[in-house]
Amino acid sequence: VVRSAVTGVGAYLPEKVVTNADLAKFVDTSDEWIVERTGIRQRHQAAPDQPTSDLAVEAARKALAEAGRTPADVDLIIVATTTPDMTFPATASIVQRKLGVPVCVAFDIQAVCSGFVYALSVADGFVARGTSTCALVIGAEEMTRLMDWEDRTTCVLFGDGAGAVVLEPVEGQGTPADRGILGSALRCDGTKTDLLYVDGGPATTGQVGHLRMLGNQVFRHAVVNIAEAITAAAKAAGIEIADVDWFVPHQANQRIIKGVGDRLGLDENKVVSTVAMHANTSAASIPLALDSAIRDGRIKRGDLVLLEAMGGGLTWGACALRL
Ligand code: ACO
Repeated sequence: VVRSAVTGVGAYLPEKVVTNADLAKFVDTSDEWIVERTGIRQRHQAAPDQPTSDLAVEAARKALAEAGRTPADVDLIIVATTTPDMTFPATASIVQRKLGVPVCVAFDIQAVCSGFVYALSVADGFVARGTSTCALVIGAEEMTRLMDWEDRTTCVLFGDGAGAVVLEPVEGQGTPADRGILGSALRCDGTKTDLLYVDGGPATTGQVGHLRMLGNQVFRHAVVNIAEAITAAAKAAGIEIADVDWFVPHQANQRIIKGVGDRLGLDENKVVSTVAMHANTSAASIPLALDSAIRDGRIKRGDLVLLEAMGGGLTWGACALRL
């Protein structure tokens, strides 16, 4: 059985750090409120002349280096982003040019904060079917470009960054003990678009627009739905949730992460959290968190890892993989 395995992981955060205290200088908020309601202490912010593709390229280079691959090997690039450099071409095309990847398959996926889980599942299809032998799956976002800096209910929550993985085919017995993506569950409920959206776009206002969110309603949907998707992904993977070594959730809010953990009875020592340092980086948050837990030695080759996310759409999903 051929599975797609993660053979390299990389991440990039822009240099500039914005603390809660920095935000409190121009918007009516406080470090205390933000930490208590969200767990967020700081976020990174891209420079004005640093587009999303630049963040993606930095993360991709590191992931390729870890996989021992070069841009010439890559035959598929999927960028999960909700903040593309331009309306078109896809950010994936720009990343391809900047990395120097020869003609290949390249496109973006727009599933907001669930984008990385969606992209991984799509790339898995290419790799497991033999259509790709070296796929780059990147989550890259500059959410700070979408903020209404006068809206304290949203502008304190988001940050910029990118993370990437390399997927390659591996042969195995087809059991959950083998490396690779084991199973996933993806969901969307389009009746809830009004809970979280950007109030602009090429076919409506002609402007980029700003992020709008009914935070407490999103919160309520998140915990219940994410728990269901985790259960479904575990079932698809043929694993028990109790056997998972590490949970790497989308990093939106520490209270959502804790709520999902409590609902499923997860050991909190197995849940990776980077929301304090990165805030919500949408599609980039899972590969950023995965990278940080690999770099600090917690997540190792052979571990059973479960990823989960929820975002605008509303979209949500989960993916189980053996590293
Ligand atoms: N600083 C100070 N006060 C604030 C701030 C702020 N930054 N933001 C809101 N408040 C005030 C509100 O105005 C309100 O005041 P009022 O009672 O006088 O009207 C009070 O705080 C409580 O507001 P709520 O919105 O009820 O606060 P809540 O406890 O729900 O926390 C939050 C808000 C943090 C947004 C929470 O609802 C949440 O995290 N929701 C999930 C949203 C999320 O994480 N979305 C991302 C997931 S999807 C994705 O990743 C795109």
